Amino acid sequence: MAYNYDIVYTTPDYFGQPLQEILRFYEGITERGRLLDIGAGQGRDALPLAAMGYDVSAIDTSKTGIVELENKAIQRGLNIDARVHNLDTFDRYELFDFIHSNSVFYFRSEEKNISDEKRLRRIFDLAKTQAVFLLGFTNSDGRAEKLSRALAKFPKAEILCRRYIDTSATEKVSGLKMQSEYHFTVFRKGT
Ligand SMILES: C[S@@+](CC[C@H](N)C(=O)[O-])C[C@H]1O[C@@H](n2cnc3c(N)ncnc32)[C@H](O)[C@@H]1O
Repeated sequence: MAYNYDIVYTTPDYFGQPLQEILRFYEGITERGRLLDIGAGQGRDALPLAAMGYDVSAIDTSKTGIVELENKAIQRGLNIDARVHNLDTFDRYELFDFIHSNSVFYFRSEEKNISDEKRLRRIFDLAKTQAVFLLGFTNSDGRAEKLSRALAKFPKAEILCRRYIDTSATEKVSGLKMQSEYHFTVFRKGT
C-alpha cells in the first residue's frame, strides 16, 4: 500500500527542521540559480533555499504538502513555483541548474515496476549539462553504496562530494537514543 503523505502532512512540519549540513552546502555555492526540489513535501528545504536566493521550484504528489509549502512561502515573502506533480512524469528537468531531492530516492522501498536507479537515470538524462544534483536519505541497508553503484553506470556523472552525518536524536517521551546516519551525495552531469 502506498504511503499517504496527504495524511502524514496534516501534522505541520512533519519532518522537522532542515539539516544544517545541507543548508551549508548550498550557502557555499557562490552562483545561485534555478533549483528544483523533487518531492519537496512541506518545504523543509525549499523554503530556506529560496530565502538563500535560489530560484526555487518544487514538485510533490501530496497536495497537502504543496499547500503548506505555498502558504509558508507567502507568509515569508518568498517566491516558489510549487506544483502537485509526479516526478516520474515531470519533463522540465532541463530548466534547472540544481536538482535537489531529500528522502525520496533510496528512502522507502522502491516502486514495484521501476527501480530508483531507472527513475533517477530518466531525470539525469533529461537534465541539462552541468546540472548539479544533491540526493539525501537516511543511510540504512547500504543505500549510499547502492546509489554509488547506480551512478557509476551513468556515463557523465561526476561525483562532487559525499557526506555522512550522525543524526542521532533522543526521543522526547521515552528518552531513548535513536541512532541513525544521514547521507547525501552531490554529483554533476558532465559533458
Ligand atoms: C519522506 S518525504 C520527504 C519530504 C521532503 N523532501 C523533506 O525532506 O522534508 C517524501 C516526499 O516525496 C513525495 N513523493 C513520493 N513519491 C513521489 C513522486 N512519484 N513524485 C513526486 N513526489 C513524490 C512524497 O509525497 C513526500 O512528500
